[in-house]
Amino acid sequence: MNVPVDEAQFLSMLLKIMNAKKTMEIGVFTGYSLLATALALPDDGQITAIDLDIEAYETGLPFIQKAGVEHKINFIQSDAFVVLNDLINGEEKSSFDFIFVDAQKEDYMKFHEKVMELVKIGGIIAYDNTLWLGLVAYKQDECEKHSKMPESVWRNRDYVIQFNSFLASNPQIESSLLSIGDGLTLCRRLY
Ligand SMILES: C[S@@+](CC[C@H](N)C(=O)[O-])C[C@H]1O[C@@H](n2cnc3c(N)ncnc32)[C@H](O)[C@@H]1O
Repeated sequence: MNVPVDEAQFLSMLLKIMNAKKTMEIGVFTGYSLLATALALPDDGQITAIDLDIEAYETGLPFIQKAGVEHKINFIQSDAFVVLNDLINGEEKSSFDFIFVDAQKEDYMKFHEKVMELVKIGGIIAYDNTLWLGLVAYKQDECEKHSKMPESVWRNRDYVIQFNSFLASNPQIESSLLSIGDGLTLCRRLY
């Protein structure tokens, strides 16, 4: 479930170019993209990292510790929506430089509504898997040829297509869908 190496390298370079200091990751799993982020941030950088699954995080934690970047990470074991609502109701509005969303696809639209309140104007939200195995580009009849794929893959394809068109016509952001990994959409908050 981790991002591939080239995507991690890209995210790392992007964070450095942006001089990002305060970031968030929704969907950590074993922490590969989290480690890439932590290595890219300055020593006083902060990452709010949220996942329901603490066992997966603890599997990767020794690597984060060995890299000497654990102090930059605030891991929160929770459903991300609970944390996002708390941050929005607290003092964290419009304070994040960068937010990486890599959790369940059916919630991307709802995540977008929340994270737009937390990212700074000019900051970046990045969504993973927006090409969804390349299936978003297939016509409906071509999809039928691949009908051996599980039903959940097709359901997620529909969610991702809807989400991509929502972003493409959203005036509050400037967006770019990169064909790296499984597709990575960068959104820059305009207002
Ligand atoms: C694709 S993996 C993340 C991979 C990681 N970003 C990487 O590239 O190394 C998705 C993770 O999202 C978590 N997740 C899914 N829905 C969530 C939610 N509503 N709140 C918090 N975590 C969630 C899952 O537990 C899973 O570990």
